[in-house]
Amino acid sequence: MKTKKIFLNVTLLGFIYFLTVGFIKSPQTDYTPIEQGKWVAPASADKITNPLKGDIASIVSGQKTYKMLCLVCHGPKGKGDGMAGAGLTPKPADLTSSTFQSQSDGAIFWKIEQGRSPMPSYKTSIPEKKRWEIINYLRTLK
Ligand code: HEC
Repeated sequence: MKTKKIFLNVTLLGFIYFLTVGFIKSPQTDYTPIEQGKWVAPASADKITNPLKGDIASIVSGQKTYKMLCLVCHGPKGKGDGMAGAGLTPKPADLTSSTFQSQSDGAIFWKIEQGRSPMPSYKTSIPEKKRWEIINYLRTLK
């Protein structure tokens, strides 16, 4: 009789545990990197215009910043094959691809500003002008 009661209690506790832990844990699974969908900038980002458009001199400076801060992940030619990117999920984007290059400068600007895990946000660490320089450099990679 007694053992039956204990057995019931243990089963009940186990069930409650399963429910709470299952409940607490489930929202986290929404953030696993593998489930991260395609990264799309909002339409409003397309309206941000590049103040350095056509400025050839900015490309050299943009390349310098790229080598310093982006190459580790995105690779020497922007292919997404940087050393630090090899173990990341998702993989760093191929910045030479036509899918990438078909975006507006504003959308790319927005993404560099925002970042998305595992890519950091550069909103405060790279001044706006430097970010436009990088974009002008990225346009030479296609
Ligand atoms: C720690 C590694 C890392 C560094 C450093 C890094 N990125 Fe990224 N980047 C990523 C990853 C990973 C993604 C893909 C993110 C996703 O799809 O959610 C990405 C995506 C992007 C995208 C969006 C690509 C697309 O498909 O639209 C741009 C633009 C970009 N990176 C530019 C840069 C620039 C510019 C720098 C340097 C200032 C930089 N990244 C530094 C890892 C990195």
